[in-house]
Amino acid sequence: MEPSKEYVFKYKGFYFGVITSLEYVASLEDFEIKDSDIFLATYPKSGTVWTQNILSLIFHEGHRNGTENVDNLDRIPWLEYNLNKRDYKELPSPRIFATHLPYYLVPRGLRNKRGRIIYVTRNPKDVMVSYYHFSKYMSTLEEIPDFNLFMERFLAGKVLASSWLDHVAGWYSHAEDFNILFLTYEEMKKDLRSAVLKICNFLGKKLSEEEVDSVVRQATFENMREDPRANYEKLPEGIVARSKGSFLRKGTVGDWKNIMTVAQNERFDNVLKEKMKTLPIKFIWDINDEM
Ligand code: A3P
Repeated sequence: MEPSKEYVFKYKGFYFGVITSLEYVASLEDFEIKDSDIFLATYPKSGTVWTQNILSLIFHEGHRNGTENVDNLDRIPWLEYNLNKRDYKELPSPRIFATHLPYYLVPRGLRNKRGRIIYVTRNPKDVMVSYYHFSKYMSTLEEIPDFNLFMERFLAGKVLASSWLDHVAGWYSHAEDFNILFLTYEEMKKDLRSAVLKICNFLGKKLSEEEVDSVVRQATFENMREDPRANYEKLPEGIVARSKGSFLRKGTVGDWKNIMTVAQNERFDNVLKEKMKTLPIKFIWDINDEM
């Protein structure tokens, strides 16, 4: 079953939410890149908002020490969902953008290793379960209340951002074209401090021990949930249905086990596990798994 046109449109094989437009996403391939630009790229529900918060904390002292009350969404806007029609040329350097674009639709200038990209992946069962809950919360997404049906749509790539496997495989197999750092949600969960240091290192940002501690502390699930700059709580009703959830839902590894039946798990593995072997990622399905 195709996703409803009420919610998504397709451009070059990729599903976008209708809150952006085809003309705009098509124009992004010509979007001018500066060497200092940073892009946070993900498939939905892989830890975007988390990493966005980490980046904001790393780059903004005023965020770290609480003297500035700027929403992460304003600091690190979405490239393809420019809801407030901001002039992205005017953003202070380094400009940092979040995006769900597949590798082949990003601004051409990013190839030849201009700008830097951080790509975060998460085990796809947790992604799918998170996405399922999220579809109820986001009024701009098609709600599919039946989990089994949602799973089929996810496996077939008939959801916003299309196929999880294509997204991840695409970015990994074209890594050579970009200046890119790969991270996983699970490694962030297991050792957030090391992940923060990896990001600082990649972006050439030197922070003191105390500053790193402060980033780590403010990027934990519990603290982010309480931080209105970080938890997207200012999104208007109409875009979200507040009574139905939140952006920061559970924040764990292995939540899929709470919803997927044995049969659903087998079906999922049948469709994806073999193909996933081509990915150079060791997936963590349970927080107790070895990295
Ligand atoms: P769950 O729905 O499993 O809780 P994205 O930002 O890409 O949409 O991903 C959202 C997922 O990241 C949600 O997963 C959310 O709870 C989780 N998340 C956000 N901030 C987090 C944090 N600080 N620690 C752990 N998980 C976090």
